[in-house]
Amino acid sequence: MEKLVIEGGNRLTGEVSVSGSKNASLPIMAATILAEGGYTLENVPDLRDVRTLCKLLNLLNIETDLRNNQLVLRNSGGDAFEAPYELVKTMRASILVLGPLLAKRKRARVSLPGGCAIGERPVDQHIKALKLMGAKIEIEHGYIVAECEKLIGTDIYFDLVTVTGTENIMMAAAGAKGVTTIYNAAIEPEVVDLGNFLMKMGVKIEGLGTKTVKIYGSDNLIATDYKVMNDRIEAATLICAAAITKGDILLKGVPIDCLTTVIDKFLEIGINIEVLGENVIRVSADKRLDAADITTQVYPGFPTDLQAQFMALMTVAKGVSVITENIFENRFMHVAELKRMGADIRLKDRSAIVRGVERLSGAHVMASDLRASASLVLAGLIADGETHVHRIYHLDRGYEKFDEKLNKLGAKIKRVENGE
Ligand code: EPZ
Repeated sequence: MEKLVIEGGNRLTGEVSVSGSKNASLPIMAATILAEGGYTLENVPDLRDVRTLCKLLNLLNIETDLRNNQLVLRNSGGDAFEAPYELVKTMRASILVLGPLLAKRKRARVSLPGGCAIGERPVDQHIKALKLMGAKIEIEHGYIVAECEKLIGTDIYFDLVTVTGTENIMMAAAGAKGVTTIYNAAIEPEVVDLGNFLMKMGVKIEGLGTKTVKIYGSDNLIATDYKVMNDRIEAATLICAAAITKGDILLKGVPIDCLTTVIDKFLEIGINIEVLGENVIRVSADKRLDAADITTQVYPGFPTDLQAQFMALMTVAKGVSVITENIFENRFMHVAELKRMGADIRLKDRSAIVRGVERLSGAHVMASDLRASASLVLAGLIADGETHVHRIYHLDRGYEKFDEKLNKLGAKIKRVENGE
């Protein structure tokens, strides 16, 4: 396995671009199950989760070729319908093939994703909705085994806001007979990007981006081309990297209008953000940041996917920050690791109380999940001495060449095999 060895104390300066969105690419890739033919997707990030989903689509008779962020797919149809445990266990977003497989091939056998470091993450809402649309679904030997004559559009009321649940049902509804109305839908920008792609495939959708979305099923969906949106979480993580090192960078390709809540919070703690043009911002920090509280919420609230990165900033801020995680029940795996670097953090119920310290010290730390690994890298950028972030495959799942991007800005990060 690989680790990153980070030499702390280097200020980030220069220019870097944001990559395409992982969480928009994955559902859009799954949606290609809905229609045979050729697709060209631009701005697809070359990262582990995308590569894993390509492997899964290959098993479903969809050829994939990802080169220089362009993903060409060819869906030759057929009736393959299985998403095996070996692939699903490495990427829970594989659940996104369930809806389109049922809509198009009337059968699906998808391994239950199982839990992950940040929580149990059940898929009961996905299953409940598909049953309402006419699917027969059993759980057998750790697999979701589903079949249907034809999915039928209906009204779906989600008990809670679920991003991939909303996405799965939008895709199922696209291939269903009649109209599906989703109430309490997720409104994350990545859900909207999927909706825009489905509309290009010929699906009629009303209310996209609101909590009530109406999808008109169609039997005449067509393969099409599309440019995926940029990654708002990567953009915000790069802002954190510039800020924590008191650097001064130019960030291009920032989906600013998806980050209003986040940018507002960054300004509150003392980060200087100047909008220089279409999706271009200048980010700098010339003094110790101020502490501030956050509570993670569904969009447009402060995103849970930025909670760990924000915490890294707060470990060396002036004052006390209360960070409350409302979305996942166990998304504080980075706390113990940050404390090994000298952070002063106390957990209480769903909150972490972070008392800013003057300095962190480099240490050997263990990445546990995608955003926790980013948090540890951020801490390593400013810790005294060397920080070794182990199990860096977690970072590679969701960030495209993140260490290379930081090195281009002046960080000193080595990627080494550590024979684990
Ligand atoms: C998506 O996960 C993202 N992944 C996550 O990003 C993100 O953290 C999450 O949304 C929240 O924004 C992708 O888009 C591929 P949810 P998802 O269903 O859809 C509970 C990253 O870092 N729930 O919105 O799995 C669930 O346990 C990843 O890129 C149910 O109880 O999240 C959680 O507590 C991590 N039953 C809450 O809802 C269900 O059927 C929100 O989960 C579904 C969800």
